[in-house]
Amino acid sequence: MLNFNYHNPTRIYFGKNRLDKVGGEVPKGARVLITYGGGSAKRSGLIDNIREVLEGREVHEFGGIEPNPQYETLMKAAEMVREKDIDFILAVGGGSVIDGTKFVSVAAHYAGDPSDIVKAGRPAAGQVAKQVPFGTVLTLPATGSEMDSAAVISYQGSKYSVMTPLFFPRFSVLDPQLSFTLPAKQVANGVVDAFVHIIELYLTYPVGALIQDRVAEGVLQTLIEVGPTSVAEPENYVARANQEWCAALALSGIVGSGVPQDWATHMIGHELTAKFGLDHAESLAVVLPVMMDVRRDKKHAKLLQYAQRVWGITEGADEEKIDAAIAKTREFFESLGVKTRLSGYGVTADQLPTVLAGLEAQGMTALSETRDLTLDITRTILEKAV
Ligand code: NZQ
Ligand code: ZN
Repeated sequence: MLNFNYHNPTRIYFGKNRLDKVGGEVPKGARVLITYGGGSAKRSGLIDNIREVLEGREVHEFGGIEPNPQYETLMKAAEMVREKDIDFILAVGGGSVIDGTKFVSVAAHYAGDPSDIVKAGRPAAGQVAKQVPFGTVLTLPATGSEMDSAAVISYQGSKYSVMTPLFFPRFSVLDPQLSFTLPAKQVANGVVDAFVHIIELYLTYPVGALIQDRVAEGVLQTLIEVGPTSVAEPENYVARANQEWCAALALSGIVGSGVPQDWATHMIGHELTAKFGLDHAESLAVVLPVMMDVRRDKKHAKLLQYAQRVWGITEGADEEKIDAAIAKTREFFESLGVKTRLSGYGVTADQLPTVLAGLEAQGMTALSETRDLTLDITRTILEKAV
């Protein structure tokens, strides 16, 4: 097991009807900004319910944070934070609203140019004059943003990952019932995203992190078990609750500490979203099966472990077991309704150079846990993914 530091400061309120906790967490007398997305949280009545528990505080709203949150939109929210002298932000939504809010919490009073945070992937030392504290009410179990220190921001036609301990929410309310209004497609996306997060942390090379491996395999198997039900039965509490805790656990640090991490599937996927508008999870479903195939030598031992322990594949030669595990992974995504070929999203081989150019511009030329996934290998992966 590799050395690691671990500290996850986010307080989780999980289960049915936990909104009262928001009232306890947001200081009395605070000037609060509720941030939300395109309106689902308004239509469901959730924002009204939150306003009730925030009674007595001065409450403002900023709506319109789009999927794959755009820098320009977030800068408008940051302006509102300054104008209204906001001292607490409450993000109500999925990963995009939460990620956007994380950025706003730091950008609002940033001493330097906030676009530098995005470009550098973190705020510069000494430039965060003041951070506005924030909490979240999650409506879409997928990204793990509700319990992690990352945010993904869209800026000038690409997606940038920003990581800082400042991005752990103070608290997150995880009531699976708040996701019952999701379209099936977003539920399926959530299962795929959480699945691939675990894979990024697990499917590398063995370092003797036996407990991380077992937890990872447990989360993967739980997603395989509950995913189809969660998609087919929108109000099945048991399925959705398990999906929601899987998604939060995936990036909480429990699985990712003390192990090598890959993230190449995500980096390539982000560029597919930026260039062609695939949903985040759709981009991952396209890249991952080919990634496993092309990187089968680097990942040989873990691929065999994955085949045997996650899918129960014990028959055949090593390469046959790996082939079968890759096929199972693809079938699983497809069974949820998430297509696993670029052609399924109308993307053709002649459009791929723009993706490679975008990755190169961001310096994404030495990806993966071994830093030897070059742009040439990415080209092969994308070509095979069509
Ligand atoms: O905007 P509204 O109207 O709320 O609609 C949203 C949006 O259209 C809808 N939705 C959310 N909750 C709903 C609902 N509709 C009905 N009922 C509800 N309860 O779902 C749509 C998608 O929402 P979005 O927040 O974009 O989805 P997701 O949670 O999948 O977040 C994706 C973003 O997170 C980033 C992705 O790159 C992408 O930008 N990621 C963040 C990570 C992190 N912070 O650690 C890691 C991930 O790998 C990922 O990159
Ligand atoms: Zn993801």
